[in-house]
This record gives sequence, C-alpha cells and structure tokens, in this order.
Amino acid sequence: MAKIGVLTLSDRASAGVYADESGVAIQNILKEWVISDLEFIYRVIPDDYELIVNSLEQMCEQGCDIVFTTGGTGPAPRDVTPEATEAVCEKMLPGFGELMRSSSLKYVPTAILSRQTAGIKDQSLIINLPGQPKAIKECLEPIFPAIPYCLDLIGAAYIECDENIIKVFRPKKK
Ligand code: MTE
Repeated sequence: MAKIGVLTLSDRASAGVYADESGVAIQNILKEWVISDLEFIYRVIPDDYELIVNSLEQMCEQGCDIVFTTGGTGPAPRDVTPEATEAVCEKMLPGFGELMRSSSLKYVPTAILSRQTAGIKDQSLIINLPGQPKAIKECLEPIFPAIPYCLDLIGAAYIECDENIIKVFRPKKK
C-alpha cells in the first residue's frame, strides 16, 4: 500500500473562501493512473512557511512515499512552498521543476513564474505542483513516468500503473 500526501497551500482555500480543487484533482488523477492500493493523507493549510515545513515533516514521518504540494510556487510575497520544500529535503531533484516548467509553456506563458521543485526527505519524494487546478494534469503528465523508478531508488513503495493510460519507465536491470 503506497501512502500519498497531498498538501494544498492556499490562504483562501484553508479559510473556506473557496473549495480546494487542485488537491482533489491530484487524488482523482492518481486513482485513475495507479493500480496499486493507495492511501491518501490530505491537508489544506495557509501559505505559512513554518506550517508548511511542519506539515511536510509530519507527512514524511507518517510514511508518505510521495508528498504532492499544490500552490505557493509563484513570485508573490506569500509564495514560500519551494523554500519550505528545500528546508526539509536532504537532496533536491531539480529536473522535476525544469520539466514541468518547460512542458507547461505549451499551455501558458506564465509557466516560467512557477519556482516549483522536488526533493527527497528520508524515503519520501516531495513534489511541488502549481495551484491552478488545470495545472495539475499539465504538470503531472510529463513527470509521472519517472516517479515509480524514483520511488524504487529511494526504497519507497513499489507502485504499478495502468499502462493503457500512463506509460511509466523503469530501466531494465543489467
Ligand atoms: N503551469 C501550468 N501547467 N498551468 C498553469 O496554469 N500557472 C502559472 C505557473 N505554472 C500555470 C503553470 C502561474 S500563472 C503561476 S503564478 C505559477 O504557476 C505559480 O502558481 P502558484 O503560486 O499557484 O503555485
């Protein structure tokens, strides 16, 4: 059973001004793509650096194999998700952010405003996604093929996906 953390960073969604669509979208997409059993740990919190750091640490301690964040990656003063991610990770994986930004340019010129990144804390992979609900699939699609093998390499859960919907890549063992 893989444990997936979904952490939505939004002052307004956490205050109930609107419903969190992007955190829900992450869970729905994964349920569609992943065949293995998944357990979700889901939280919606404000864009507060300390709160984000604490929540990321808690989700990793609770054994999340992946923690997806959504929101708080832009240039606005309250956007601090990448900083909080870097603070908790031992190792950064900048390729995730690079690929998401370059792929997202197909959809919006403002893709370059996202400072999204990814990294490893213990046996958890943390990945930042932007806050726009439509950005979730736009960003998950290009990076997802590399995620299962990344989990294998860090000793996290083995996840199997529906190959008819999403093709993942695991290099052949020598
Ligand atoms: N990436 C994709 N794929 N689709 C989008 O709509 N929005 C951009 C960018 N990346 C967007 C995207 C915009 S407008 C901003 S400001 C940044 O993500 C940061 O968004 P965030 O602060 O909600 O994380």
